[in-house]
Amino acid sequence: MAPDPQGAAAVIAARAPGFTPHVGLVLGTGIGALAEAIEDAVIIDYGDLPGFPLSAVEGHAGRLVLGNLAGMAVACMQGRAHLYEGHEAADLALPIRALSLAGCDTLLLTNAAGSLNPEFPPGSLMMLSDHINMTGTNPLVGANDERFGPRFPDMTVAYDRELRHRLANTAARLGITLHEGVYMALMGPNFETPAEIRAFRTMGADAVGMSTVPECLVARHSGMRVAALSTLTNLAAGMTDEELSHAQSLAVGAEAAKDLRRLLPAFLESLSPETGR
Ligand code: HPA
Repeated sequence: MAPDPQGAAAVIAARAPGFTPHVGLVLGTGIGALAEAIEDAVIIDYGDLPGFPLSAVEGHAGRLVLGNLAGMAVACMQGRAHLYEGHEAADLALPIRALSLAGCDTLLLTNAAGSLNPEFPPGSLMMLSDHINMTGTNPLVGANDERFGPRFPDMTVAYDRELRHRLANTAARLGITLHEGVYMALMGPNFETPAEIRAFRTMGADAVGMSTVPECLVARHSGMRVAALSTLTNLAAGMTDEELSHAQSLAVGAEAAKDLRRLLPAFLESLSPETGR
């Protein structure tokens, strides 16, 4: 039987007694270094958290960092597992549920993505207004765990309006350009074909990537507020003459990640440290 998220939540409580994180952070490709800014950090390897799936992807550390970032109590996942690594979609539910049990009622997801929108250039940041799940799977498939949420969760507002408003205001205050658009998630691991990208543009996608949507679905199911940000690392396949590579994603993503490393702490500072709201 799959492990219960209570086990991982119990390890978190035991390793950081008396500490209640309000905001969960998932740091994607190229953004992991943000965890180094966390103060009074308690670090737990995913291997010590029962049921946390491990990631072998370059740029994903695989540890949970508990502590204070810009005065906010956070639980930060430095690295995440992906569907293309062979994990079952349902396996991706456990870490998010463990964060929810630990106290997080807000979840901030980050990722690296390709841009389908010529007005959103590589090196810039996009906040998700909505998503399209094209992974072909869903972490909520299987018996519904009623402790967390309903069988048929509503997804009318997947990405919280208040949080988006705050992120937009914070970015404007810092002089950071923050685009807003629709993220399409695919299973991967290959980058898309030019024909797929043309089809996805017609469907309304502004960016494409291989993560984030499973975590958003689990978090919304359990009633967490969600916001998500993409560092745009490339124009999607066929939009330029260049071929795509993970190495190039990391290099260009580093530019956008600099803005994200300024934006996230300033955003957290704008929330109440007592409640995280
Ligand atoms: N496609 C899918 N995932 C990605 C891309 C892309 O072009 N760039 C970064 N992650």
